[in-house]
Amino acid sequence: MSVGEPWRDLASDYENARQRPDSLDRILEWPMQQEVIGDPQGLRILDLGCGSGAKAVHWARHGAAEVVGVDITGQFVPDPPDNVRLISGDLSDPDAIDEIRGRVYDRILFLQSLSYAKDQVHTLRSARGLLAPQGRIIVQRSHPVRFAVERAEVNGTSLGEEYYSTDPYQYASRWNANVTLTRKTQTIADMLNAFAAAGLHVERAIEPQLTPENQNRYPHKQEWLNRHLGVVLFVLRAI
Ligand SMILES: C[S@@+](CC[C@H](N)C(=O)[O-])C[C@H]1O[C@@H](n2cnc3c(N)ncnc32)[C@H](O)[C@@H]1O
Repeated sequence: MSVGEPWRDLASDYENARQRPDSLDRILEWPMQQEVIGDPQGLRILDLGCGSGAKAVHWARHGAAEVVGVDITGQFVPDPPDNVRLISGDLSDPDAIDEIRGRVYDRILFLQSLSYAKDQVHTLRSARGLLAPQGRIIVQRSHPVRFAVERAEVNGTSLGEEYYSTDPYQYASRWNANVTLTRKTQTIADMLNAFAAAGLHVERAIEPQLTPENQNRYPHKQEWLNRHLGVVLFVLRAI
């Protein structure tokens, strides 16, 4: 089974969870994603692992010139605007997708999706070749400490042992406990080395935090973040 395969069963559960008022996507990730993407006016955006495409539609409605979303599940929002294309496909080799090959983009996004690439360096290199001058690749990933904490709790081991473990990590999805996800976890050094090997420079790295208002409103989410740290975003440009 490919690493993206379980998503065919998970797509609707993820989308339902994402839309809850207290979802981390809504209160932590989306605000930071919007900040790093900047004003979408006139931008050509490629969203790899775009989920339902709801974010693509948002950018198009806020002035983006063109948005292309790719997702393995092909379970997309109905009737997107004319300047949004939602494509069922594998993000591993973006340059091999007919609708994308030969075009360039101002923002290329991997929002919680790069870990599903068959070979991350190859995928990042392929994306780099699709960047417009001054374009940026934005990668958001689960903080690697999150998986180390979870594995240490389950296995009764230590944070260090699990942070540096190279064994694949299998865990029940937070969105549907009947679906098992498997991933090779990475350290921060692994992530930075993949960017360097793909010819990308880290312009900015961000570990977003809840606003004080959201900390008060959603203390259970702050409690989760206090243990698991959340996500890390990288803004990358071609060297
Ligand atoms: C955690 S969700 C993130 C969705 C979206 N980027 C967001 O921020 O809401 C991960 C997405 O990656 C997609 N995915 C997993 N493997 C993939 C692959 N090989 N190619 C394209 N998409 C994939 C899943 O179907 C899912 O929609």
